[in-house]
Amino acid sequence: MQISFVIHDLKSLEFFSGILANMIHKGDYILFHGEIGAGKTTLIKFIAKSMGINERYVSSPSFVIINEYKKDRLKIFHIDIYRLGENTSISDVGLDDYYLEEGIVFIEWAEYLNDLEKNKGLHLKMEILENEGRKLTLSSNDPTWFERLEKLQKINLL
Ligand SMILES: Nc1ncnc2c1ncn2[C@@H]1O[C@H](COP(=O)(O)OP(=O)(O)O)[C@@H](O)[C@H]1O
Ligand SMILES: [Mg+2]
Repeated sequence: MQISFVIHDLKSLEFFSGILANMIHKGDYILFHGEIGAGKTTLIKFIAKSMGINERYVSSPSFVIINEYKKDRLKIFHIDIYRLGENTSISDVGLDDYYLEEGIVFIEWAEYLNDLEKNKGLHLKMEILENEGRKLTLSSNDPTWFERLEKLQKINLL
């Protein structure tokens, strides 16, 4: 299933992220696609903020590859695999299935994941339109996302 939206500015991206954040729970795996500057880190910051994480702690993990945020007992893993190149596996950054089940995983530069791991979770692609405009395309082969995507499809971004 696939849906897409046009976001006109950062404000509407923040609004969208608040709705998405409310749908995310333990075990979710979200794969972000898009060129440098598309807004992947910005969107993850907004989602984390909506989940109650102090945005000061959310930064691009390009240099450290993985950042970890905690909210109550929930752990969020924010990974950027750009520097690891093509065909990367989640285990290359030290995460195994335990973390995938017990936390929430956000992956920037999901184009570089191996095919097996690319098949899971929610894919969120960001494309630059002009100025602050972005096209967001959300897709998943995972049935646990179908109902959530249907709900998202009904939101009015204004
Ligand atoms: N609608 C928008 N969505 C996301 N980022 C936007 C938007 N409009 C402007 N920007 C700006 O574009 C830049 C995106 O950078 P970043 O989030 O680091 O991208 P990425 O992680 O994809 O490389 C930020 O400076 C952000 O403020
Ligand atoms: Mg980034």
